[in-house]
Amino acid sequence: DTRTAPSARVVLVGLPGSGKSTIGRKLARELGVELYDTDAGIEADTGRTIPDIFATDGEAEFRRIEEAVVRRAVLEHDGVVSLGGGSVLSARTRDLLRDALVVYLEISVSEGVRRTGASSTRPLLNGVDPAAKYRDLMRERRPLYREIASVRVRTDGRSPGRVVRMILTKL
Ligand code: S3P
Repeated sequence: DTRTAPSARVVLVGLPGSGKSTIGRKLARELGVELYDTDAGIEADTGRTIPDIFATDGEAEFRRIEEAVVRRAVLEHDGVVSLGGGSVLSARTRDLLRDALVVYLEISVSEGVRRTGASSTRPLLNGVDPAAKYRDLMRERRPLYREIASVRVRTDGRSPGRVVRMILTKL
């Protein structure tokens, strides 16, 4: 194992719609560092969109690409890293994150469903019953987020600025 300690200062995890991108941008600005968004990294590396990767190659292939992009980001990016919501499904990724400062952005099902709306950029939430799907994701992933989180912050009904200030007091 050639693993080295993560260089990312803060890693943001949470379900889709929990605010990882928005909070990540503001938090990085506050800390005076760059934000690396793994969804954007996957699209930049492959030259393809996430919906296209899901539709053409399937979720398993997407997860394989994601695991590699996340690993590189966490080990090499000296700033804030925002992870795609499903990254934590990988045991190798969870293992990698044990040595990182991980902030879990918690959100309720109702607020998460409201925020993700009819989001065509998130293939997993495009089914017939997005609310049921969101509940499933919550049930499956919440234990995984909690397992790796150093810090948890509730985001329901809080402005991005407020959430960022709460994170800063806990770092
Ligand atoms: C996914 C979340 C998305 C993106 C992909 C799969 C998931 O990222 O990686 O659509 O499995 O929850 P966000 O969490 O930024 O929406």
